[in-house]
Amino acid sequence: MQKTWLALAAAAVSLPALAQYPEKPITIVVPFAAGGPTDKVARDLAEALRKPLGGTLIIENVGGVGGTLGANKVAKAAPDGYTLLLHHIGIASAAALYRSLPYKTLDDFEYLGMINEVPMTLIGRPNLPATSYADLAKWLESNKGNINLAHAGVGSASHLCGLMYQAALKIDMTTVPYKGTAPAMNDLLGGQVDIMCDQTTNTTGQIEAGKVKAYAVMSSKRLTSGALAKLPTADESGVKGFNLAVWHGLYAPKGTPKAVIDKVNTALRTALKDADFHKRQEALGAVIIADARLAPAEHKKFVEAEIAKLTPVIKAAGQYAD
Ligand code: MLT
Repeated sequence: MQKTWLALAAAAVSLPALAQYPEKPITIVVPFAAGGPTDKVARDLAEALRKPLGGTLIIENVGGVGGTLGANKVAKAAPDGYTLLLHHIGIASAAALYRSLPYKTLDDFEYLGMINEVPMTLIGRPNLPATSYADLAKWLESNKGNINLAHAGVGSASHLCGLMYQAALKIDMTTVPYKGTAPAMNDLLGGQVDIMCDQTTNTTGQIEAGKVKAYAVMSSKRLTSGALAKLPTADESGVKGFNLAVWHGLYAPKGTPKAVIDKVNTALRTALKDADFHKRQEALGAVIIADARLAPAEHKKFVEAEIAKLTPVIKAAGQYAD
């Protein structure tokens, strides 16, 4: 009984504060390195959110362990609306992949709505001898035991894509983890690693500038814009059924007040219609979400379904992580 009165009193005290939310800068945690694909989505979104949310947004990059460090930081943050998480498919793939996580994916977050979907591309170091997808398959076959595949840590999108690709080809590669695909891209450009699966938000510029070898798109349909339109799909190149798109969403710590969740969700819906946001994201191959998954409840249902979908895929690839 006493607890109920205390809760009511606390709610009454915080009501005027909520009406003025946000009263100070909001931090959006990106669980990967600065300059990479998740960071680019977050910085574009922060720009589009500034007006509808009416406050300053700060990006904090907390890379490491495939996105789980940053996710854990937000799961444990004060549920006051001033710490948010922008994460991608990795929030579901980590839940399917890790035997134990320091947070509960479905219980420790408030789901605020989804943002976009981004296709993945398979790219190689600039001096890789293979110039087409067929050449690459031959090169991989004849270099078995000596192939380095870069990724952004166990549980990241590039890791998931690399895992599925190795399983489809039945070729084991040495996987090299980074805090994000931004630093991984630097090493790929420098020739220290051979290949990587990465999102078009990070690869389009490098492909268009001819700085990396581009082999395939990892979604079921060919892409339509610029240099990406020339790439075959993995499926049409012989890796049947390969179809992976990276989706992004926004999260807050569990217990964040409903008024804050509603305000951020309303601002998110407005931001996703922003013409500049569309232009910037679409130029990098992203598709903005405009369906029921904009609603927090549908966003959560979708993540739950993705965990169920990815669990057997990861199991079939023979992978679990501690
Ligand atoms: C990043 O921002 O570095 C990527 O989204 C990492 C990944 O998941 O591949």
